[in-house]
Amino acid sequence: MVKIAILGHGVVGSGVAQGLFSKTELFRRKFENKDLIKRKIGEEIILKKILDIKEFKNLSYSNLFVKDFDEILNDDEISIVVETMGGLNPAYEFVKKLLEKKKSVVTSNKELVCEKGEELLKIAKDNGVSFLFEASVGGGMPIVKPLQFYFVSSGIDSIEGILNGTTNFILTKMAQEKISFEEALKLAQELGYAEKDPSDDINGIDSARKICILAELAYLKYVPFKKVSVKGIKDINLIDILYGRSVDMVLKLVATVEFSYNFIENIEVRPCFLERTHRLYSIDGVLNGVVVNGNVMFTGEGAGRFPTAGAVWSDIAFIVKNNFRNISPVLERDDHFTSLSYEEERRKFYIRLKAKDLDKAKKVIKDYFALNFKIMDKDVKCVRDIEYLDREGKKEDELALIVCGILKKEVLDLEKILNESGIEMKAYFEILSKDY
Ligand code: HSE
Repeated sequence: MVKIAILGHGVVGSGVAQGLFSKTELFRRKFENKDLIKRKIGEEIILKKILDIKEFKNLSYSNLFVKDFDEILNDDEISIVVETMGGLNPAYEFVKKLLEKKKSVVTSNKELVCEKGEELLKIAKDNGVSFLFEASVGGGMPIVKPLQFYFVSSGIDSIEGILNGTTNFILTKMAQEKISFEEALKLAQELGYAEKDPSDDINGIDSARKICILAELAYLKYVPFKKVSVKGIKDINLIDILYGRSVDMVLKLVATVEFSYNFIENIEVRPCFLERTHRLYSIDGVLNGVVVNGNVMFTGEGAGRFPTAGAVWSDIAFIVKNNFRNISPVLERDDHFTSLSYEEERRKFYIRLKAKDLDKAKKVIKDYFALNFKIMDKDVKCVRDIEYLDREGKKEDELALIVCGILKKEVLDLEKILNESGIEMKAYFEILSKDY
């Protein structure tokens, strides 16, 4: 028999508790869920205490609530604590104390793992217990354990993922319903996907924290959050999504990390277009998706009470099945952390301009790229080409194009040159296709 506690009875915490107490209606099962958990884990799991400052009077387990953290910290019967409070404080202080008391901790708190993971993992190891965080990335998409325990012999060269359900829902709805960013965000809030304050989601911060955590699991070194280059989706215009659709591309918020033998080449979050050949092309709505090494794919519901609670339960199972030994990764401190810019690599970009004279704009572009094409290296992966796009309802001063085999700095350079000719670059996005 294993006794556990939960810190925070919010969306995820209540899902963890209900995972144990629910019967048919929540998990569509014809038997008590706790029996299934017992059969899977091989031990009966007893939820002994739940910490929350709010009152929860009408639950079948209302008697379990406590308001004083020390009641859990000093309860020697409790061996695993689930932290689902979110935020850094007091979660950090609580988790640290629990690990020092030799209790294993399972968390869904990506901010905590991203900011304090390195230290907490070391404390867990020193105390012979585990600090696990499957639920911190991808909700119901299993990705943390595969990165930790799989790819042992092959190593990991790259991770590319859609790691935020809210933004993926917004971008999917904009494309499907032809609605603006603001309308899609409102819809996400009405349906309960987006938080009341969705800034971390739409600014790309949530995805950046998650790619940092995944990078650390792959690299086994501490990756400072500030090294992630982040661009969110709040300035996305429906016009660009429609141009993308005209050539069968979808716009997604993609988090990427690429490794070289001993350093990170590139770690970033940004909206980009995906061609149909890309494995994340069809990851729509609140789904998350991750592609490892360009060919191993994971997907699942990236947010929501029960998918995320399920990830918490999988960590509890791992701890019990491993006899409470430390099975967490340990991160090396890398004082020489390097993140090379990927600027050296030539890529494919979508660009949209606003210009009174479209012929003049086309000439500026042609002259600029003609000059640069002469000095291109032999490693260019795609045909160097310019394709002009069309869309239904195209305005007279709009010019959208796709250019292959260019550097990001050339796009920025072109923006300056266009500006000098009175032409405004309204948007540009990298285009990703299947990486062969
Ligand atoms: N706000 C997050 C998302 C929740 O939308 O993906 C899961 O981390």
